[in-house]
Amino acid sequence: MQNFLYDIGTKIYFGEGQIVHLPEAIKPYASKVLLVYGGGSIKKSGLYDTITQLFRENGIEWKELSGVEPNPRVSSVNAGAKLCKEFGLEAVVAVGGGSTIDCSKVIAEATFYDGDAWDLVTKKAPVTKVLPVFSVLTLSATGSEMDCGAVISNLDTNDKMSVAHPDARPKASILDPTYTYTVSQYQTAAGTADIMSHIFEIYFSTVKTAGLLDRMAEAMLKTCIQYGPIAYNDPTNYEARANLMWTSSLAINGLLSYGKGTPWSVHSMEHQLSAFFDITHGVGLAILTPAWMRYVLDDSTVDKFAEYAFNVWNIPMSEDKYAMANAAIDKTQAFFTQELHIPATLHEVGITEDKLEIMAEKSAVTLGSTYKPLTKEDVMNIYRACF
Ligand code: NZQ
Ligand code: ZN
Repeated sequence: MQNFLYDIGTKIYFGEGQIVHLPEAIKPYASKVLLVYGGGSIKKSGLYDTITQLFRENGIEWKELSGVEPNPRVSSVNAGAKLCKEFGLEAVVAVGGGSTIDCSKVIAEATFYDGDAWDLVTKKAPVTKVLPVFSVLTLSATGSEMDCGAVISNLDTNDKMSVAHPDARPKASILDPTYTYTVSQYQTAAGTADIMSHIFEIYFSTVKTAGLLDRMAEAMLKTCIQYGPIAYNDPTNYEARANLMWTSSLAINGLLSYGKGTPWSVHSMEHQLSAFFDITHGVGLAILTPAWMRYVLDDSTVDKFAEYAFNVWNIPMSEDKYAMANAAIDKTQAFFTQELHIPATLHEVGITEDKLEIMAEKSAVTLGSTYKPLTKEDVMNIYRACF
């Protein structure tokens, strides 16, 4: 295990009805806020009315930015930052899934920058200061409610890039599992795959640890495997929604990666698919993950895959580690396609082969020191295996 500083500064209000604590969380920081949300699910569910009523009762003034897109665009970030500057807003309150929270984080960063927010995402300009961010989570997937990263898209240039700053981690997040009852089966499946991918990206690491970190990771994977299909088939099952929600936060808030950081593999490949074809992040991950696992399985990784097979999928220990590993990869793929009903191929989600080369080239830039280093050719091979 490597050295680390444990510092996860998000206050979590977890459980049904915890929204009443939102004003008390915000008020030490702000009395005028930007309320950010997506395409309208919070209006349909009544959450918008609940929050604005709480704001009125507690003397919190607000402006709104609505219509944040899945795979949030930098244009939305710029629009939000403009409102914060114009009205002297003091905090950003995100209500929604990862896209809304990510957009809010970069709005909070761009409020203190005079140019295009894209400069912050591309690192052309540094993030210097960040407005306090709060979130009310409505979709269990990204973990953005408890991490400091954000992923922003620029469809003009087919770029999807992440930016992270410690101060962008939400000061407080409301995690009420009942808010995820209305999430569609498709997004429930995608969210579960995304949570699992965050765990895989850390579990399969060049830093060898067979202790606490891996056991926690396995417990989280098993939680997704148990509760993902329940939430998919029974959307108002509180235990299922609650387990997925808390796992989504813990999977990527630093807990699993402290002492074990290595660059991620599959996310880089997926972000290119989203950047060029605007697909759902978790669906892309579910398609790529089994292909990536098969591609990186070799003598240097087989023991880890056998450990995954035994501890996560209950595949019996055997002399033949490759058989164990392959059985676990098959089970992973069957889980995504048969239990969560996610398409098995890139072709089914509208990806065409003409963009593979440019996507592989852009993706490979960050894959030189991953679990198994990947070149552009390797990424091409993994993409091709998904058709
Ligand atoms: O926009 P609305 O109307 O709210 O509808 C959304 C959207 O259409 C809907 N939805 C959300 N909550 C709902 C609901 N529908 C009904 N009931 C509810 N309670 O779901 C759709 C997808 O929402 P989105 O926020 O895009 O999904 P997700 O949470 O999966 O976020 C995906 C984005 O986060 C990025 C992804 O790349 C992608 O851009 N990621 C962010 C990360 C981070 N900040 O750490 C890490 C991840 O790996 C990921 O890259
Ligand atoms: Zn993800």
